[in-house]
Amino acid sequence: MTSPTAIDSPTTGTISIADIRAAAPSSLRLQRPLPDRYTLATPTELEAMIRAAKAELGTRLCILGHHYQRDEVIRWADATGDSFKLARFAADSEATDIVFCGVHFMAESADVLTEDHQRVYLPDLNAGCSMADMADIDQVEECWEQLAEVVDINRVVPITYMNSSAALKAFVGLHGGAVCTSSNARAVLEWTFAKGEQVLFFPDQHLGRNTGFQMGYDDRDMRVWDPRHDLGGLTVDDVRAARFLLWKGHCSVHQRFRPEHVYAARAEHPGMEIIVHPECAHDVVELADRVGSTERILDWVTSAAPGTVMAIGTEIHMVQRLARANPDKTVVSLDPLICPCSTMFRIDEPHLAWTLEQIVAGTPTNQIVVDPVTAEWARVALQRMLDIT
Ligand code: 13P
Ligand code: SF4
Repeated sequence: MTSPTAIDSPTTGTISIADIRAAAPSSLRLQRPLPDRYTLATPTELEAMIRAAKAELGTRLCILGHHYQRDEVIRWADATGDSFKLARFAADSEATDIVFCGVHFMAESADVLTEDHQRVYLPDLNAGCSMADMADIDQVEECWEQLAEVVDINRVVPITYMNSSAALKAFVGLHGGAVCTSSNARAVLEWTFAKGEQVLFFPDQHLGRNTGFQMGYDDRDMRVWDPRHDLGGLTVDDVRAARFLLWKGHCSVHQRFRPEHVYAARAEHPGMEIIVHPECAHDVVELADRVGSTERILDWVTSAAPGTVMAIGTEIHMVQRLARANPDKTVVSLDPLICPCSTMFRIDEPHLAWTLEQIVAGTPTNQIVVDPVTAEWARVALQRMLDIT
């Protein structure tokens, strides 16, 4: 290993990658079991608890809900959105207590973007993201060191998808890169190539590849970096030739959608509109009529003309809610077999009621705190994204 890079921090002097690595929490998060008061409560009792806690907390509370949350949770959200919109809500919120109904990386980003007096909570600590767990700080740092041996590392820009730990966001902040989400990946990559020649994009290979194709690049410009192999399993020539080094990560929900689903949907309903999330594989994306973040999908479906028939390639709770909210249109899942995000699904009313009542009681739990060293550089990377878009 080479010695860690030390760079002047925006406000606290000199810190290093080693500081970030030392501060990075283990990916193991353990949610303690809920008291019987919540697990045995009826839906009516849970509703009463949540309503009372919200009334008690008033404007000091803000509940944020991602589109993949189940109906009985999202109905309590003060603001809903995709990961980008929710990050903006968090950054602009004046509430002191922000309950994030989403997954861990979203709550971490909210903590990074809020002031010190604001607290962010995740109702179930086990609500992680399997894609985010596919890249950790040690692997990325090792990749960076290996790259530095074969290319001019000053011309490589690291970009991390929002779906990543705060430690990775800090890594890209320190190395001149930025965060992106599914709604702004193209803008962030255009910014990237204005300042460098190669991008190291993690952890979702599909978002990187789909955006690269959208920008006019092709397969010859892209290589997949497999962190389980030396030099990502690539040759030195491959690494040098690549404009996009795409981390071998994926979303287990979105990779289930296959071209066969598109063919079957169109065979059944000729003229059906196919709308997919950019975490889907490229062979699906190139067959689709539209590709966009969860917020864009919501906008497209909502504004579609009555009678439109649409198959959606994204998480099932969102698709089912869109179907119910648009009874004048036909909205179905692109994969007829149910496609839930099991970690988003961990957030339920018992956990929400418990989290809120703990805040009311003055004994808050499940606060997500990013250590100051990591937060400082993660904020740099997140702020670059907000400025670019
Ligand atoms: P959005 O940014 O579109 O909300 O996506 C987040 C996510 O986790 C999709 O799997
Ligand atoms: Fe992670 Fe996929 Fe779930 Fe999104 S849908 S939170 S990327 S596992």
